[in-house]
Amino acid sequence: MSAAAAGADVNPGVNLGGWRPHAGPQSWVLGARGCFEVLFGGARGGGKTDAGMAWLVRGPHFGRQNYRALVLRRNYEDLTDWMDRARRMYAGAGGRVLGSGPARVEFANGAVFRLGHLKDKDAYTKYQGHEYQRMLIEEAGQIPDEARYELLLGSCRSTIEGVPAEVLLTANPGGVGHRWIKERFGCGQGDARRPKVAYAGPDGRLRMYVPALVTDNPTLMARNPEYVRWLESLPEPFKSAWRYGDWDIYTGQAFEWSEANIIDPCPVPDGARVIQTFDWGFGRPFSVGWWWVAPDDVLVRVGEWYGCAPGQPDTGLRLADHEIAAGILQREADMGLKPTLRLADPTIFNRRPDSKGGGLGDSTATVFQRLGLAMRPGDPARKLKFRQFGARIKSKSLLVFRTCRDFIRVVPDLPLDEGTYDDVDTDAEDHIYDEACHACMEVPLPDAALRGAAMPAFDPGAAAGAAAGGRSPVARVRAGSLAEILRGGR
Ligand SMILES: Nc1ncnc2c1ncn2[C@@H]1O[C@H](COP(=O)(O)OP(=O)(O)OP(=O)(O)O)[C@@H](O)[C@H]1O
Ligand SMILES: [Mg+2]
Repeated sequence: MSAAAAGADVNPGVNLGGWRPHAGPQSWVLGARGCFEVLFGGARGGGKTDAGMAWLVRGPHFGRQNYRALVLRRNYEDLTDWMDRARRMYAGAGGRVLGSGPARVEFANGAVFRLGHLKDKDAYTKYQGHEYQRMLIEEAGQIPDEARYELLLGSCRSTIEGVPAEVLLTANPGGVGHRWIKERFGCGQGDARRPKVAYAGPDGRLRMYVPALVTDNPTLMARNPEYVRWLESLPEPFKSAWRYGDWDIYTGQAFEWSEANIIDPCPVPDGARVIQTFDWGFGRPFSVGWWWVAPDDVLVRVGEWYGCAPGQPDTGLRLADHEIAAGILQREADMGLKPTLRLADPTIFNRRPDSKGGGLGDSTATVFQRLGLAMRPGDPARKLKFRQFGARIKSKSLLVFRTCRDFIRVVPDLPLDEGTYDDVDTDAEDHIYDEACHACMEVPLPDAALRGAAMPAFDPGAAAGAAAGGRSPVARVRAGSLAEILRGGR
């Protein structure tokens, strides 16, 4: 860890065995001041892990008696690798890496780095109430949602005067947390926020994204030129993700979503078959969808209500059942929709403890029924619904009104379960998916369609034209295919 150094010493008082940051991204990250969160990386091999180790000891705070840092990695094996590297990096600085009770690095000046990993069963709650002035989270893409990340951030704070709280994250595109990281740090090409420019988040604290490529790491380029050749030889989308750190290419999407799945709203014909679907949630979001079963059994999502706390992905509104029921009825009145069928996850039929803590109280379904919403259990078979939903997305026999923003935000980036490849990753924000699947299972595609047979073609662009031209498709519903209706033809 000594060759090809270009930057200044990380900390003049600390012996890192001659390690210095390379010019470019490593130096920018180590030189950043006043930024609460820095996301470092994108591509593989840019020098993220080394820079993270150096980042923990940079600046005068390192000498402060109470300085505490938390280091989190993806899993136990990654943590072990980090500890091996830390032994080498911190040996000259007097750092002792201790493997148990809990794993940590202790320095003679009193500084302590606590070590953990994200696969730990209580990884997100065990640090609550602690104070870490610096937090290093490697492979942050393993954190499934932003709410869990925010839980961790709660422990990144400082009561030491003059020592700011700071977080450094590293991540590659892909992984279960791809979407929230991309949104939070503006990593996609389409984002107006520029890399290396700090901007204030909604909490007023500064964030910054610093991308790094393997070509920014002259040590690796010189000592292991085959590595970049290996990155270059990877099939897509791994090449774009790992060689170029491209956040617009994603390695693990569960569905073949495209812009053609989105259509501009048009009137739902009077008397059309409309299904309302529901996935219950309290601490996590609930989800309600309204589906027009259009000709050729095309499912069109015409409305939705996602019970998610504003600005807090995957966090529920905590509404009581009667409030949800009232909200559903109100929205139906506003949209002029009269569902012919209501489907919900079967768990809402389970009776619950009553308010006194004994006996069995009403189920959500009973409360809904009393208020005029008669639900039927949907079919929750995970593998079957994954096939049905996936085939519908691919064949464009599931269309979504542009106004269904939460569906469009969540579904395209839903990750595949890397263990089985026949389900979505259930750690991801999958409530809208589960809710939507009730409609897909109620109106299943025939086997031929599941095997990839061509489905009727649509012209979503013409749908907008028909609606804007005021030509309601109402009269043509029975006679024509959806393609013709949307085109306003016949
Ligand atoms: N400034 C530096 N001086 C010397 N060696 C360095 C420097 N930065 C990184 N290296 C070395 O380059 C190699 C790759 O760096 P590192 O592991 O930090 O990259 P990374 O971005 O974390 O990779 P990955 O994406 O695979 O996690 C390592 O052997 C590391 O020790
Ligand atoms: Mg690394």
